[in-house]
Formats: sequence, C-alpha cells, structure tokens
Amino acid sequence: MDSILVRGGGPLNGQIPIAGAKNACLALMPATLLSEEPLTLTNAPRLSDIKTMTELLRSLGSEVAMMQDGKTLAMSCHSEINTRAEYDIVRKMRASNLVLGPLLAREGVAEVSLPGGCAIGARPMDIHTDGLTLMGADIELRDGYLHAKAQGGRLKGAVIDFPFASVGATENIMMAATLAKGTTVINNAAREPEIVDLADCLRKMGAQIDGDGTSTITIQGVDRLGGATHPVVIDRIELGTYMLAPAFCGGEIECLGGRMDLLTSFCVKLDEAGIDVTETDKGLKVKRRTDEIKAINITTEPFPGFPTDLQAQMMAVLCTANGTSVLEEKIFENRFMHAPELVRMGAKIDVAGGTATVTGVNKLKGAPVMATDLRASISLILAGLGAEGETKVSRVYHLDRGYEKVVCKLQAVGAQIERISE
Ligand code: EPZ
Repeated sequence: MDSILVRGGGPLNGQIPIAGAKNACLALMPATLLSEEPLTLTNAPRLSDIKTMTELLRSLGSEVAMMQDGKTLAMSCHSEINTRAEYDIVRKMRASNLVLGPLLAREGVAEVSLPGGCAIGARPMDIHTDGLTLMGADIELRDGYLHAKAQGGRLKGAVIDFPFASVGATENIMMAATLAKGTTVINNAAREPEIVDLADCLRKMGAQIDGDGTSTITIQGVDRLGGATHPVVIDRIELGTYMLAPAFCGGEIECLGGRMDLLTSFCVKLDEAGIDVTETDKGLKVKRRTDEIKAINITTEPFPGFPTDLQAQMMAVLCTANGTSVLEEKIFENRFMHAPELVRMGAKIDVAGGTATVTGVNKLKGAPVMATDLRASISLILAGLGAEGETKVSRVYHLDRGYEKVVCKLQAVGAQIERISE
C-alpha cells in the first residue's frame, strides 16, 4: 500500500490546474444507458472512481473507452443490455447506484445491488426508491439487491416531493424521467452544479428539462434520446481544497479554471477566516491576508450552503486558527474521522455528535496518520503542509478515488511531498 510523505515547509507559489468534477462525471457516465447513440465526455478526470464506473457500465453492456488524451470518455450502449449491477462492483463505490434510474428508463427492469454503508454513513436509498415507486416502478429488496420493474414496461411521470435535497436521488430520478411517459416534477430537488451539468448534457441528448439548479425540476418525458458530446464541469471540491493550501503555509496559488459561482458560500467563509480570493482571467488567485487565520464557524448544508465535501479540509485549516471554531456536520452522520488523526498532530478538537469544536494551536506537528475516507485523506495532507516536521499519510488509495495527481500538483507549487510504496 502507498503512503504520502509531506514535510512542512515554506510558502507555496504558482498555478494548480483543476480537473473535471468526479461527482459530475459519475452522474454523466450512466446517462449513456439512456440512448443507443454515442455519448462523449471531455475534461473527464483520471480517477479510480471513474475506472470503477467504467467497469460497471461495461458489465451492463456499454462500450466505454478512454481516449489517448486521457480526458475524453467515448461511450455507447447499443447492444443487448445486462440489467443487473453486481455487488462486487457496486460495493466499491456508492455512486454505482446511479445506474438504477437509467436502466429502468431504458429497459423497464433493473437489479442493482444496494451499495451498503461507507465510512461516513449508512447511505440509504429510500429517497431514490420512493421516487421511482411514484413513477410506477415496483421495487423489492431481495438478497441485497433492489429488484425494480416498471409497471407496463415504461415509467410514468409523477410529482415527487423529496424529504431531503438528495444529490444522487435527484440525478437518478431526473435521468429516469427523461424517457418516462408524461411529466415529472421533483420538489426539494438538489441544486448542486453537478445537477445542472447533468441536465445540460441530457438536454443535448434531447431531454426536456427545466428548473435544474433550483429546488423544482420539471422533466417532460420523450420517446428516445440521441447522442451528445459534453465537457465535464470543473471539480469545485478539488478547487476548494487547493484554495485552502496557502492558508497552511503562506504564498499565493492560482487555481486554473476556478470559478467563484461554484463556491459562493465557501468563499464567504474564506474571507471571514482571512483568506483573500481574486478572480483572474485564468481562474482564482488565493492567499492569506496576514499570517493569522481567524477562527470561524461553519455548518454544512446542501448547495448553495457550505459543502460537506470541504468540511474536513476547512477543519484542518482551523486547527491553527486564532481562537475557537465550531463545525456542524449536517449532511452525514459520521464525517469527523479526520479529527482523531489531526489530534495526533497536536490539534485540539472535541467532537460531540455532529458538532466539532476546534481550539486553535500555534502549529501542528508532523506524525504518522491514517486516511479513512476521500476527503479526510486530503485534509491530512494539507495539515502536513503547515506542520513542523514530517507527516506520513497511509492508505492513500482513498485519495486516488477523488484527487488526480495530488503529489505533482503540490510539488509544482513548492510543496515537499512524495509518494512512497511500502
Ligand atoms: C453526493 O453523494 C456526493 N457523491 C457526495 O460526495 C456528497 O458528499 C453528497 O452528494 C452531498 O453533497 C457523488 O455525487 C458521487 P445525498 P449522495 O444523496 O448523492 C441521506 C465525495 O466525497 N440520504 O445528497 O450519496 C444520506 O444518507 C462524496 O465526493 C437518505 O437518507 O448524497 C446523507 O446523509 C461523499 N436517503 C444525505 O442524505 C437517500 O435515499 C446526503 O445524501 C439518499 C440520501
């Protein structure tokens, strides 16, 4: 297993290119199941999660090829479809559940293994299945698989009120509704930029979708969809992660491709903490206003609120802020696993349920720490950038799921970081 060694050092200066969004790409790829025409995604990130989705789609009968440039995915699904998504693939990545809606829409049947829980929570699918049931699907959980069948062979439009603005459920229902008979309205839909990106792609394929990006999305079903070529929107979570790097050790970073509109509430909090963000013609330039980071409070919420996927990274920054910060995690029930690892580095963090209280210390000290999930892993690397001495982050396979070429991106701006195999 690989580890990453980080030595706390001087300021970081230079440019970091931001890749296409993992969480947009993982929703866009299953859309190939909705059409017999080719779907091409450009600006796709090179990540292990994308490889897992590729493996899953191929198992369902799709052709998926990564082009020479390593960023273009050429997909087509015109052969016989296998409608069973096997557990041994689905268990590797929860987003595999995003084939449920498209399979039901295309074939009228689907057998999709429940993904099971993961480190950050139980991750149920009730909002997905309740919505599809309202669209006329009979769904039964048997042997760990969701066995779904559209009554009469085709889903029908429905008005669906989500109890929570679930990102995945919004994506599954939106894709299912594109080929349903009639109109579907999703109330309390998720508003994330990745939802808008998926809707943009589906419209290029011929879908009739309005209201994406707001809490009410209306989809008028059509009889068939065509092909499309679509660029994956940039990854706002990777963007936010690298925007925090100068907060740990000074300097100025320009995140190429960065857009403020993808992270408005996050940028408000950066300003509160004493981090300046400037829009340039290439992206976003970020630096500390002074050597001091101010303590702030954050509460994670669905978009446009503070993103849960940036909570761990912000906690790492606040470990050496001047004062006490309170972080409330409202999206997942167990997303503070990075806290005990940061405590090993000398941080002062008290966790009580969904609330973490961080009392700033002068400096963290490098130590061996363990990555527990994707965003926790990067928060430990960031913490190592500003710590005294060396930090060794183990189990970095978590990192490979969502961060492309972390070591070379950070080395390019002056970080003392390397990857070692043990
Ligand atoms: C997406 O997960 C992202 N993953 C997550 O990113 C992100 O943290 C999350 O949205 C919230 O923004 C992808 O897009 C692939 P949800 P998703 O459905 O769709 C509960 C990362 O680090 N819930 O909005 O699974 C659920 O348990 C990952 O890149 C139900 O109760 O998130 C959770 O507490 C982590 N029933 C909350 O809602 C359901 O049917 C948010 O889930 C569905 C969800």
